Amino acid sequence: MKKTATLLLSLFTIGHLFAQNNNLSASINKVKLDFRLNNGKPEYAVYYDGKVIIKPSAMGFKLADNTSLTDNFTLLSSETKTVDTTWNPVWGEVKSIRNQYRQLTVHLKQNSTARAMDIVFRVFNDGVGFRYVFPHEPNLRYFVIANEATQFALAGDHKTFWIPGDYDTNEYPYTTSKISEIDNRQMVKNSTEIAIRVAPDAHAVQTPLMMKTADGLYINIHEAALVDFPAMQLHVDNSSYVLTASLVPDAVGNKAYVHAPFNSPWRTIIVSDKATDILASKLILNLNDPSKIENTSWIKPMKFVGVWWEMQTGKSTWNYSNYPDSLSADGKMIPNGLHGANTANVKHYIDFAAKNSIKGVLVEGWNIGWEDWFGFWKENVFSFVTPYPDFNIQEITQYAASKGVKMIMHNETSGSATDYERQLDTAFKFMKKYGYVAVKTGYVGKIIPRGEHHDGQWMVNHYLRVAKKAADYEVMLDAHEPVRPTGLQRTYPNWMASEAGRGNEYNAFSKGNLPEHETIMPFTRLMGGPMDYTPGIFKLKNYTENPERQVHTTLAKQLALYITMYSPLQMVADLPENYEKRPNAFQFIKDVATDWDDTKIIEAEPGDYITIARKEKNSDNWFIGAITDENGRNSTVLLDFLDKGKKYLATVYADGADADWKTNLESFQIKKMTVTSATKLNLKLAKGGGAAISIKPL
Ligand code: NOJ
Ligand code: CA
Repeated sequence: MKKTATLLLSLFTIGHLFAQNNNLSASINKVKLDFRLNNGKPEYAVYYDGKVIIKPSAMGFKLADNTSLTDNFTLLSSETKTVDTTWNPVWGEVKSIRNQYRQLTVHLKQNSTARAMDIVFRVFNDGVGFRYVFPHEPNLRYFVIANEATQFALAGDHKTFWIPGDYDTNEYPYTTSKISEIDNRQMVKNSTEIAIRVAPDAHAVQTPLMMKTADGLYINIHEAALVDFPAMQLHVDNSSYVLTASLVPDAVGNKAYVHAPFNSPWRTIIVSDKATDILASKLILNLNDPSKIENTSWIKPMKFVGVWWEMQTGKSTWNYSNYPDSLSADGKMIPNGLHGANTANVKHYIDFAAKNSIKGVLVEGWNIGWEDWFGFWKENVFSFVTPYPDFNIQEITQYAASKGVKMIMHNETSGSATDYERQLDTAFKFMKKYGYVAVKTGYVGKIIPRGEHHDGQWMVNHYLRVAKKAADYEVMLDAHEPVRPTGLQRTYPNWMASEAGRGNEYNAFSKGNLPEHETIMPFTRLMGGPMDYTPGIFKLKNYTENPERQVHTTLAKQLALYITMYSPLQMVADLPENYEKRPNAFQFIKDVATDWDDTKIIEAEPGDYITIARKEKNSDNWFIGAITDENGRNSTVLLDFLDKGKKYLATVYADGADADWKTNLESFQIKKMTVTSATKLNLKLAKGGGAAISIKPL
């Protein structure tokens, strides 16, 4: 690996010299970090190419016992080191990842209390991460955090892509506004959505928070390695542009219970003058620990179909009976005749998957409890080992195995997390017994116990407990309604995907997602990790009884999402019958890979467009996805990443000439052509449209 000269120019080998005047810095290329104690108060600042990104900003914590770790500090010592290594993820967007940073550690001691606190900064080519470290020492063993004092003092009134600081859900559409205009109440007023409500703090937003400055810099604030701590939201000061960490509280208002030695999650600031660099950044993954799972041979990316969209659209039901207490004279439940997860229907999906080389089949609504799944009558409604009478698990298991198809378990907890933990071993043993390779979990509704929040410390620990338990049983995990990801998929690579955002499903049961939604998600929600967005809807209108429902993209854009919405578990979300009507378009979904050796972010602008090319793992096949917002777009893609001198067949799945997300969603065309590394592909994307391209060596 090439060591850049600028790297070696980094400052300070003799930390204590600088410690005396309390000013320290570290830099790589264009990114520079400053640290100082300002009258005993720790402060940091971040610069990019000489421009201020974060003005000197406060650090530390306020504790529940009314003491604080924000001031009265002395700098005992500091060290720096340079790291430049390369590692290979178990699965991912690229085969290998370079982890190059300059680290500055400051050791602080609070004069009045003799408590120790360290802060570790890592400066990368594309940003900065820092975390608080509480060493094992007698003066601070157990403590309760009342607030985090970390601030991000921004240098201007940036354009911001934000969702409100709700403690329980991140399934919001994005608002684009200046920082000075961020106000959740305004957003609620302007919306007729079902899931919209005023967040507890009208001026708090969630991370990853994406911003663009007036002079064209892109800034993304999030966190990495969220373990045993609540999620960080940001309180926005509309006039000073200072963002203050706002930790999600527990049921009684405390933020975090800490037992030293302890590391906080990393606070991350990614910055570049190119939007494409933000999407290509590996800073968050690099700040997470390497895999803790030794044998990872059972972890395999895949596509899957599911007995799912038919329930989302009201064609069938999750529940078997209409009432929780609907028992007939012979003591059996009375079927409603609409239950989706019945043996015959599941076999139909297995057949469809087998025929189209789709590896997985998810079945929702297979287990008892759905009649009262919000828990109106009792709290703990689900059994994770008891199928409904028309779901013959033995027969289904054998049938799937005979067809070479893998089954995906569904465990909706409807928020009863303690009950799920009680059943966890039994549930995973059951999955193993019946050969399930993955589980999709769900946390719809209020969290039990105590009404903890989805993004508080207790639940953050719960999601990870489930991921670890799944790893013990060699089961892959896809979590719905969890806290948003922070790169932990590096450490627990069986935790392959999460929902944790507003998925395609909103087009089934609400006004849906605007055409710009998918051009924002990769800059926000997906910065922390893969999303189970459930792309691939082919029937884009009239899929429910409500004629107003529609998907807000063209058909070609649904295909492009397989590339632009990265996930190693990628759903093929529509009904088999809708794919069977369009075998030509479906060919792209059959072909597209889910694991990659290389990724090129070709062009991108948050809220407007994204074009990405990816090279399939252990193959010479490339796939390109290009998407646009509500505006049509012409894009020229130079295929210079292809091998020189080689000829390839490109199949372009494009919008029809008259395609339009509002009026003509399914207008679609396919073109085939021979291409080389010198080819410039001209793509014409319709309003709300896209293009998907497969490129295979001839
Ligand atoms: C919400 C999830 O996002 C969805 O995928 C699932 O089908 C339902 N909950 C039921 O568990
Ligand atoms: Ca959901």
